[in-house]
Amino acid sequence: MTTKISSYDKYISHRSVDAEIDRLASQAQKGWPKESRTLSWLGLEDGMSVVELGSGPGFITEQLRVMLPESKLTCIENDSELIKQAKKYLKSKSIANVNFIEASVEGSELPDNKFDIAYARLLYQHLENPVKVSQEIYRILKPGGKLIVHDIDDGLFGIFNPQIAELERIVEAFGKAQKSRGGNRHIGRVLWDILESVGFDSLDLEVLSSHSGDVGIEPFMQQLDPARFQPLVEDNYLNDKALERFILSRESFMKTKGAFAIWLSFMVSAQKVKDN
Ligand SMILES: C[S@@+](CC[C@H](N)C(=O)[O-])C[C@H]1O[C@@H](n2cnc3c(N)ncnc32)[C@H](O)[C@@H]1O
Repeated sequence: MTTKISSYDKYISHRSVDAEIDRLASQAQKGWPKESRTLSWLGLEDGMSVVELGSGPGFITEQLRVMLPESKLTCIENDSELIKQAKKYLKSKSIANVNFIEASVEGSELPDNKFDIAYARLLYQHLENPVKVSQEIYRILKPGGKLIVHDIDDGLFGIFNPQIAELERIVEAFGKAQKSRGGNRHIGRVLWDILESVGFDSLDLEVLSSHSGDVGIEPFMQQLDPARFQPLVEDNYLNDKALERFILSRESFMKTKGAFAIWLSFMVSAQKVKDN
């Protein structure tokens, strides 16, 4: 059974669940060298006890398992089908020793003070109640343990050169649709405040860039696949003419020699107060 307490829905995120899983794979794998570098900088070390929150189809789980061979690794995910998918994927990569818990991150029933690091990647933008989740993560972290939240903010969506027509309108419509399901694509700007408000201290914030010079243009085009935006027209967040203009302009962007794309994401780390 899957508990629904977030705006994430693999059935509406793309033209098919397989296409959505491919999108998550490219998003997870291409940028990992930079992402792992920043995670290490924020305190993630091999041997630590780590929980991945909202682990989805397991692409980041794979990277964490390889990066942290001596760590205990637990994943909390509320979608039973994605857990199945992750287990199958990890098996195909000969990755073992991951403990999956099917539960909402709002209440996992894990004991207090269990983990050194909790990593939430692209989860917070989907949460209806990020404060409640942060309180729960605070509970399961050891004193001195850290929550690292990696997420986006559409205010810093990115730069495309040449510009893609109607992209701003599409991003806005996408944000409104996600908001109507309880999510928040402007989460980046409030992460610091949320984590501080539940009692975390020693906060730190890094902005990560992902750009086509490094990862190629393909991951960006997958994120901007028009199939992801078709439901916005059906639900009246966007008019069909705007989507058509976007599709043509996206095609011309892909054909442009030297086309460049960059987008930014936030990584905020916060520490549970140490025992005195
Ligand atoms: C956009 S996906 C990101 C998956 C993975 N973290 C990654 O970066 O590739 C968001 C994931 O969070 C999961 N999720 C959303 N709300 C959740 C909740 N309340 N409890 C546990 N998992 C949740 C979704 O099912 C989905 O797998």
